[in-house]
Amino acid sequence: MTTTIERAPRIYETSIGKKILVAVTGLVFLGFVFAHMVGNLKIFLGPTQVNKYGEFLRDMGEPIFPRSFLLWGLRLVLFVCLVLHVSLTIQLARRSRASRTTRYVHTDVVQASYASRTMRWGGLAIFLFLIFHLADFTWGIHPHYVRGDIYANTVSGFERPAVVILYLMAMGALALHIYHGTWSTCQTLGIKRARWDPVIRRTATALAVIIAGGFSAVPLAVAFGLVR
Ligand code: HEM
Repeated sequence: MTTTIERAPRIYETSIGKKILVAVTGLVFLGFVFAHMVGNLKIFLGPTQVNKYGEFLRDMGEPIFPRSFLLWGLRLVLFVCLVLHVSLTIQLARRSRASRTTRYVHTDVVQASYASRTMRWGGLAIFLFLIFHLADFTWGIHPHYVRGDIYANTVSGFERPAVVILYLMAMGALALHIYHGTWSTCQTLGIKRARWDPVIRRTATALAVIIAGGFSAVPLAVAFGLVR
């Protein structure tokens, strides 16, 4: 005999369950990129401030927890969110392709397909950027890397014009991802009604511009010699 728990649909196996998890993990990333962007702006306050901020991240939770314990906890949360976000998005895309039997005729469906294509390719671009970013700034593959010296690493990192261009392109992809991601999150959470459209559009645009703009300010400031 099956129990109620066994019969209850496992939420993550349904399309809506998957969409909710994609939206929630997306919101975790949004919180992370916003905090990271604000933290990065400390570079304009000089080496002491930005390096002190890096130290704070490592010391967070002391003396209750050992050094770097909370930072590793945060890294673990981000990693789990990344795995869920990517794998569930792939599963949803496969499901929607398998269930689609007719060609698009309505413009809103065509627009939705444009947005989901942008999300898919933009998401891949952000993922590849992230691998390069971590290798360069965290694992320290760049030739002038100094462990713990965020200021020096950022300046020497962006003294390479190709890296500045790569970052600006990645921030363009991030802006589009945040813009479309805000729309789909609202849709998943049931707040996409015609009367809310202008509010959602303004919120999505503001988030995309503030976050991508704030991030881009750092490589641009180094490229133009304002931070050196
Ligand atoms: C211009 C844009 C950016 C700059 C200047 C920047 C700068 C940095 C720096 C200097 C570090 C190393 C911090 C340390 O040594 O403790 C770092 C780490 C990191 N960044 Fe960025 N970042 C940028 C954009 C992004 C974006 C868009 C993402 C996510 C999509 C991201 C994700 C991360 C992650 C996950 C870490 C590792 C954090 C850790 O585990 O300690 N960054 N970033």
